[in-house]
Amino acid sequence: MFNIQTLNKISSVGTDVFDKSKYAVSDNPANPDAIMVRSAKMHDMTFGDKLIAIARAGAGVNNIPVDRCAQEGICVFNTPGANSNAVKELAICALLLASRKIVEAAQWSASLKGTEDAPKTVESGKSKFAGPEIAGKTLGIIGLGAIGGKIANAAEALGMNVIGYDPYLSVGAALHLEPSVQVVKDINDIYKNSDYITIHMPYTPQTKNTIDAEQIAMMKDGVRLINLARGELINSEAVVKAIADGKVAKYVTDFADDIVLGAENVIVLPHLGASTPESEDNCAVMAAEELIDYLENGNIRNSVNYPNLTMNSTDTKICVIHKNVPTTIASITAAVGNEGINIENMANASKGDFAYTMLDVTGEVPATVEGKINAVDGVIRVRVINKK
Ligand code: MLT
Repeated sequence: MFNIQTLNKISSVGTDVFDKSKYAVSDNPANPDAIMVRSAKMHDMTFGDKLIAIARAGAGVNNIPVDRCAQEGICVFNTPGANSNAVKELAICALLLASRKIVEAAQWSASLKGTEDAPKTVESGKSKFAGPEIAGKTLGIIGLGAIGGKIANAAEALGMNVIGYDPYLSVGAALHLEPSVQVVKDINDIYKNSDYITIHMPYTPQTKNTIDAEQIAMMKDGVRLINLARGELINSEAVVKAIADGKVAKYVTDFADDIVLGAENVIVLPHLGASTPESEDNCAVMAAEELIDYLENGNIRNSVNYPNLTMNSTDTKICVIHKNVPTTIASITAAVGNEGINIENMANASKGDFAYTMLDVTGEVPATVEGKINAVDGVIRVRVINKK
């Protein structure tokens, strides 16, 4: 029986994916094998010795100590793309909110409740809420992953000129872009040429304040900025100052801080991008499926700290997480071969400092073999999975 801990409320459509005869899902199991999480902060958590996987039902993993997990043999998964449509829809909404003074107009209309002749006042006062159309304007997108790519195509369909920047653009993501979306190699081209800029990249110490005073200075006067990715990517102080100076016309963000809250020409929303029933279901199902394939088959799909690797096996698999250093694989296979066990198939992949090796063998693997692999220098965790 595997114990799955849920750290946040996870859609039941996702938790129902676990077969109840093999899995117990609860928010407080004694020593979980795996954790499902949405936004709970995990950096200060100590992990039990049975924990081998964490699945984030979402894209960003900055609430998880990903590097420490890699050192401790804990595979961290995310669910790329599962909430991309939901975030795309909010981004299109944000583009319009950045243009058309919709929030301000609605607030003003509501403030007229109970006043004399409100319908007439609403009509006569509307001119102060005029704002430009987005068609024909240039949208710059920083990050063309699952979310940025969908926004690019949707904005193009709304008549915008779209330019995008992504140093890690995959061939698959590039093929999904409408041909008219222009991909630039220099991020400064986004700053210099866009009427609207939206950012869709992960937050890491390296991406902190990607947009700061220096980048804003390069932008067109009257630029409108959108940040639905992570608050730390844009320096709030620099944006609010640029609004006061007349450089930035509007900032729409779904990250509140004391600087942006209540600031003029800033619209602050709760972090609502993925808050749709569809996206919550999609993320939870994807996270559950990733955990099941890892726990039962050792397959890794969509890990952020280990390489992705899958291999079919009908008998026994020896799964080894180890450091990506010379002679480790040779020592692992020797530890198996020296016990007279034949390796039928083998798969290996690496990602940065870490590597994963799966050996497909026939029959029982004595515990002594597991111990001998564990003793190999650089080995972090060994699991033997018997499918028979
Ligand atoms: C994500 O990282 O998936 C989105 O920002 C939504 C969320 O944080 O839940």
